[in-house]
Amino acid sequence: MSWKTKLSRSMVVTRPTTPFCTPAMIAQWEQKLLPRYATRHGALMPILHDVQHAYRHIPYAAMLEIAAFLRIPPSEVLDTVSFYEEYTTQPQGACVIGICHTFACEICGHQAILNHVRKRLGIEPHETTPDGAFTLLTMECLGSCDTAPVALFNDVLHEGLTIEKLDRLIDEVLALAPRKSPHAGSST
Ligand code: FES
Repeated sequence: MSWKTKLSRSMVVTRPTTPFCTPAMIAQWEQKLLPRYATRHGALMPILHDVQHAYRHIPYAAMLEIAAFLRIPPSEVLDTVSFYEEYTTQPQGACVIGICHTFACEICGHQAILNHVRKRLGIEPHETTPDGAFTLLTMECLGSCDTAPVALFNDVLHEGLTIEKLDRLIDEVLALAPRKSPHAGSST
């Protein structure tokens, strides 16, 4: 986890004609999410998760929409987005590969797994392939140390990884059409 600093005061955020937070999302948040929290602010992280999942990133315009919905300053939304690695301001690939690099996975060969993905996809951690198919991340402990090394392919955990297993997973992703999003590729 880390905060990334940026100049926000002079930043111009372009608002799309169609909001990122759709009426269906707003209704869902109003009816199902907000009642679970003592304050509207409490729903920030699950809302960010929804937006990240829908658009594969959280555009700055969406942060303004979320801030207005939750009635909190946009800076609080930006602070949260910039702190957690699961949230990104640039579009991620259709498949996000998150390789655990914490201790158990480290001693069980995560480096060989990581090197193979880097070589096969031609990207470094936190990069996305030019075709938008894959983003590579390294992650902290995924809670499955006894089956190390492990990695997430999107939200699915794969355990006891080997190079062969990894190649099969990548082949399966390549065989599927990339996900489409009306706002994919937007970063404002
Ligand atoms: S160290 Fe990788 S799952 Fe715990």
